[in-house]
Amino acid sequence: MDKLVIRGGEPLLGTVRVSGAKNAALPCMAAALLTEEPVILENIPQVRDIQTTRNLLAAMGAEVELGCGRAQHRTTLHCKNLASPEASYDLVKTMRASTLVLGPLVARCGRARVSLPGGCAIGSRPIDLHIKGLEQLGAKVTQDHGYVEATAHRLKGAEIVFDKITVTGTEDLLMAATLAEGETILQNCAREPEVADLAALLNKMGAKIEGAGTATIRVKGVTKLKGAKHRIIPDRIEAGTFLIAGAMTGGDLNIAGCDPAHLGAILGKLKEVGVKTKSTADSVRVMGDNPFTATDMSTEEYPGFPTDCQAQFMALATQAEGASVITENIFENRFMHAQELIRMGANIKIEGRRAVVRGKTPLSAAAVLASDLRASASLVLAALVADGETIIDRVYHIDRGYEHIEEKLRAVGAQIKRIGEMFPKKAAAVK
Ligand code: EPZ
Repeated sequence: MDKLVIRGGEPLLGTVRVSGAKNAALPCMAAALLTEEPVILENIPQVRDIQTTRNLLAAMGAEVELGCGRAQHRTTLHCKNLASPEASYDLVKTMRASTLVLGPLVARCGRARVSLPGGCAIGSRPIDLHIKGLEQLGAKVTQDHGYVEATAHRLKGAEIVFDKITVTGTEDLLMAATLAEGETILQNCAREPEVADLAALLNKMGAKIEGAGTATIRVKGVTKLKGAKHRIIPDRIEAGTFLIAGAMTGGDLNIAGCDPAHLGAILGKLKEVGVKTKSTADSVRVMGDNPFTATDMSTEEYPGFPTDCQAQFMALATQAEGASVITENIFENRFMHAQELIRMGANIKIEGRRAVVRGKTPLSAAAVLASDLRASASLVLAALVADGETIIDRVYHIDRGYEHIEEKLRAVGAQIKRIGEMFPKKAAAVK
């Protein structure tokens, strides 16, 4: 298993470019299932979850073409013949977002058989709201042997109010509704930019969607969708991660190719802590030369502070003077990084969904273990300011959502390298 070795103490200086958003690319790839024509997606990040999704679609019979060289961030998905509308457990267990194929498969093929995702490090992650919504659209849904099976001759438009705000639940049902008969109104929807990006692709494919990015989305069903070409939005979570890295290391870092309009809550919190930033239309410069002061933070659905940056913010809080109270409102078990930060010298007390971080505490290098994607990012940030050489194990977690993170950080001054396994496994062949 690969490890990252990081020697702390270097300020990050220069420009780092943000990749395409993993959490926009995943639903957009699933949307290709809705048409027999090719869908071309650009600005796709080269991360493990994207490869998993390519393998998932290929296993169903889709032709998956990956650009190379200068086109390495482009992928063409042609789901002309879907031999088996199924998502097997061995793929879904590695990536919960595989459930995004459920809605498109029922809408396109009239049938879907998708493994239940099971739990994951950060919480139980049920998909009951996905299933409830599909039933409201007229699908017959059964569950057995760890799989969800959904069938429908043709889905029928309905009024659906989500009991809880769910990002992939909104995306799954939005995709299903595009081919349903009649109008669907989705209420209490997730307002994340990734939902709006998916809707932009679907409308290019001929869907009739209004209101994506707000709490109420109206969809007029059509009988067929066509192929399209679409550029994925920048990754706001990667941008937030680098903003915090620049602040923590006392650097002067320009985050290029991002969309500051998606970073409001993060930029607001950084300002509260005393971090200086300067934004243009597509970049943010962060200057971390101030001492930081503690502040409280609660994760909320967009446009609130993103849960996917909570672990990174906790690392920053360890370097702020005073006590920061961090409340995780979205997932029930998303403080796995705290124990590892404590081993590096942080002063953190966990009480249920609240963590009290007392700073400023100097951090010392240690051998630490990554537990999930964003916890790994938090450990990288801590290692960048720790005294000595930190070794982070199980970095496959970080490879799920960050493209070439060691190259990007090394290019702006970090002392970071990857220790590969002696005999690296062959990359999963894409048919
Ligand atoms: C998406 O996950 C993101 N993943 C997550 O990013 C992100 O943390 C999360 O939204 C919240 O913003 C992708 O977009 C691929 P939810 P998702 O459904 O859709 C409960 C990362 O690090 N819920 O919005 O799975 C659920 O348990 C990943 O990139 C139900 O109860 O999250 C949670 O408490 C991690 N029933 C809350 O809703 C359901 O049917 C929000 O979950 C669905 C969700």
